[in-house]
Amino acid sequence: MKLLVTGGAGFIGSAVVRRAVAQGHSVVNLDALTYAACLDNVASVADSPLYAFEKADIRDRAALDRILAQHRPDAVMHLAAESHVDRSIDGPGTFIDTNIMGTFHMLEAARAYWVAQGRPEGFRFHHISTDEVFGSLGATGQFTEDTPYDPRSPYSASKAGSDHLVRAWAETYGLPVVLTNCSNNYGPFHFPEKLIPVIILNALAGKPLPIYGDGSNIRDWLYVEDHAEALLLVVAKGELGRSYNIGGENERSNLDLVRTLCAILDRKRPKEGSYADQITFVTDRPGHDARYAIDPARIRDELGWRPSVTVEQGLELTVDWYLENESWWRALQERHGVGERLGVTA
Ligand SMILES: NC(=O)c1ccc[n+]([C@@H]2O[C@H](COP(=O)([O-])OP(=O)(O)OC[C@H]3O[C@@H](n4cnc5c(N)ncnc54)[C@H](O)[C@@H]3O)[C@@H](O)[C@H]2O)c1
Repeated sequence: MKLLVTGGAGFIGSAVVRRAVAQGHSVVNLDALTYAACLDNVASVADSPLYAFEKADIRDRAALDRILAQHRPDAVMHLAAESHVDRSIDGPGTFIDTNIMGTFHMLEAARAYWVAQGRPEGFRFHHISTDEVFGSLGATGQFTEDTPYDPRSPYSASKAGSDHLVRAWAETYGLPVVLTNCSNNYGPFHFPEKLIPVIILNALAGKPLPIYGDGSNIRDWLYVEDHAEALLLVVAKGELGRSYNIGGENERSNLDLVRTLCAILDRKRPKEGSYADQITFVTDRPGHDARYAIDPARIRDELGWRPSVTVEQGLELTVDWYLENESWWRALQERHGVGERLGVTA
């Protein structure tokens, strides 16, 4: 396939780009290169004849039209978004602009391109979204594809809005779409402001390991390479108009997760005492969802997808990657001054 991947210089998008090229697909990476992007994430494929990069903003309709007409993709995988909940609390406007208006422009550009091509049957617009659109669970239950939407942060509300637009474009204009809603990802190239890199890098720097509230919030963790594999499966084989929930069946409270990371670091980079001694409880995130859990039965039963690693294996791989790639994360930390607490203005 020839794939147009938006947000391919970000964390998940770059995993999709690397994997797609490795599988023999042609990839056009469309990215505006916001603070969250890093072209080093795709350096391993940059010289491949299967890879092209287009610096463009998904809100720039003229640029989208030009890129679609020039590269003529068989499918669009739309990942570009503002993605950090804490930033959405401090500055929700960018999230509305990028995630809702940007998706609107992507849909309109994709629709015009698809119509101009004679509505090819195989074309797909794959919208990549999050399980956070479903809101917050109590102690039991899991999100299925039929769970009603109940977003509670500016980030998740903007993603929910974009999901609704995608379904509306399928119903109203017949645009061939597939959607996926995924749980929390982690792994290599994760931007240093997100929980797992913050913990690893603060631990190594001898800094406090901040845990929001009492650390009881539960997330369903998925290794990013397993997400990328699921996305490439859905874009190729997913049923039109259908959405697929993707999750690792790896529920952990934030406190458990941080303790596991500390135990791994204690083994791999021993120091006097344990890294767990650096754990510090800080004021909770406003509107902090208590628990997310995904029921991945549909993608497992219909498309045969399963995560390849457990959370224990994935965290080992992740810690190894951060230990081996200090130049990557140091450059980002220096460029963006990562470290100050975000999301407290509410
Ligand atoms: N990170 C997670 O755990 C997770 C889980 C489920 C779903 N998602 C979804 O997956 C997608 C990718 O998430 P991520 O964690 O890789 O995000 P990220 O923040 O790491 O990367 C986002 C990328 O989008 C680009 N971008 C942002 N605004 C743009 C614009 N206006 N035009 C063009 N490019 C723009 C950025 O430059 C960046 O490269 C998002 O849609 C997110 O909602 C993320």
